[in-house]
Amino acid sequence: MEGNSMITLALSKGRIFDDTVPLLAAAGIAVDPSVIESRRLILPTGDPQLRMIVVRASDVPTYVQYGAADLGVAGKDVLLEHGGDGLYQPIDLRIGRCRMCVAAARDFDYASAVRRGARLRVATKFVETARRHFADKGVHVDLIKLYGSMELAPLVGLADAIVDIVSTGSTLKANNLVEVEEIMPISSRLIVNQASLKTKATQIRPLLAALAQAVDQG
Ligand code: PRP
Repeated sequence: MEGNSMITLALSKGRIFDDTVPLLAAAGIAVDPSVIESRRLILPTGDPQLRMIVVRASDVPTYVQYGAADLGVAGKDVLLEHGGDGLYQPIDLRIGRCRMCVAAARDFDYASAVRRGARLRVATKFVETARRHFADKGVHVDLIKLYGSMELAPLVGLADAIVDIVSTGSTLKANNLVEVEEIMPISSRLIVNQASLKTKATQIRPLLAALAQAVDQG
C-alpha cells in the first residue's frame, strides 16, 4: 500500500476551507473552490491520491485522532478544547488568525470585579480554555456552556463575561461589549494522525514540506 494509498484531509466549511484552498494550490494541489457548493461531504482535489472531507470545525480533531482522516486543518481554539490526543501538529498555517478574549458589557467593571475576588459567571463555547485561564489567574468562575452567539449572554443577564474569539471586533462592538483581556492569539494548524505519518510517510512527508514552504512564501 505504501506509496499510493488515498490521503484524506479534513476541513470545515467557511474561512478554513477558503483559506486552505490557496495554500494547497501553492503546494501544487489544485482545488476547484466551487466543489464546496455541491454539498457533498467527500470532495476531490487535483491530486487523485488526495481527497477532502467536510466536517464541523470542532469535529476535525476527532476525525484525525481516529485516523478517519490522515490530515486536518483546525483552529488552535478547537485543538485546545479537544486536547490534541494522538495528533501531531507540525505546521502553523497562519490562516484564520484571531484572538481568544474575555469580553464584557461596556458598563461592567471587570477589573474591579476581579480585584474584589467576586465570583464571575462566564459563558463560553471554549470551556476548557476558559477554565484554565481563570484558574491560572486565581479567579473563581461559574462556567456556562454555550454553542454560539455568546455575545448575547451578558446582554440578557446570563453571564457577566464571555470567552470568545475576536477577529475584527465588529461583533463585540455591534453588541456594546468590550474586550477586557486577551487570552491568546489563535490561528489554524495542520494536524496529522500519528499512525498515518508512519504508514503513509512517503506521501505525507512531501505534502507537509510543500505546505510548510507555501506558508513561508505566503
Ligand atoms: C466568531 C466569534 C464571534 C465572531 C467574531 O464567530 O464567535 O461571534 O466570529 O468576529 P469579529 O470580531 O470579526 O466580529 P463565527 O463567525 O466563527 O461563528 P460561530 O462561532 O458561530 O461558528
